[in-house]
Amino acid sequence: MTETPPLYELLGGETGVRALVDRFYDLMDSAPEAQDVRALHAASLKGSREKLFMFLTGWSGGPPLYIQKFGHPRLRMRHLPFPIAERERDQWLWCMDRAIDAGDFHPVVVEHLKTRFSEMADFLRNQ
Ligand code: HEM
Repeated sequence: MTETPPLYELLGGETGVRALVDRFYDLMDSAPEAQDVRALHAASLKGSREKLFMFLTGWSGGPPLYIQKFGHPRLRMRHLPFPIAERERDQWLWCMDRAIDAGDFHPVVVEHLKTRFSEMADFLRNQ
C-alpha cells in the first residue's frame, strides 16, 4: 500500500509554497480585478507574503512556522479589523484560484486547494 504524501509535499515543499504565495500577492498587487482587497493591505506586501507563507507551510503539514512565531492563528479574529464582504472575499479567491492554476499541481490537489480556500475565505467574511 502506498500512503498519500502530505499536502506540503504535493505543493513542492518550501519552494512550492513560497512560489504559490508569491504568485498570489503579485496578482493582488497588479490586477485591477483585485483592487479592493489590495487596498485593505499595507503599501508593502512583504509582511503579508511572509505570514501567508508561514501559515500555509504549517497548514499543509510542513513545519509549524506561523504558530512558532505568532501562536495560534485565530484567523477570524485577526481579520476582524478588515472589512471583508463578498466582494473582498471573491477578489481574494480570484487571486488564489489563478495562483493555483499557474502552479504545476495534480488536478486533485487543485480541486482540494480551491475548495478549502473557498471555505476559509467565506469563514473570514465579517460583513
Ligand atoms: C477572505 C478574504 C481575505 C481578505 C480580504 C484578507 C485580508 C487580509 C489582510 C488585510 C491582512 C493583514 C495584512 C497582513 O498582516 O498580511 C491579512 C492577514 C492574514 N491573512 Fe488574510 N485575508 C483573506 C483571506 C485569508 C485566507 C483564506 C487565509 C488563509 C488561507 C488568510 C491568511 C492570512 C494570514 C495568515 C494573515 C496574517 C495574520 C497575522 O498574523 O496578523 N487570509 N489578511
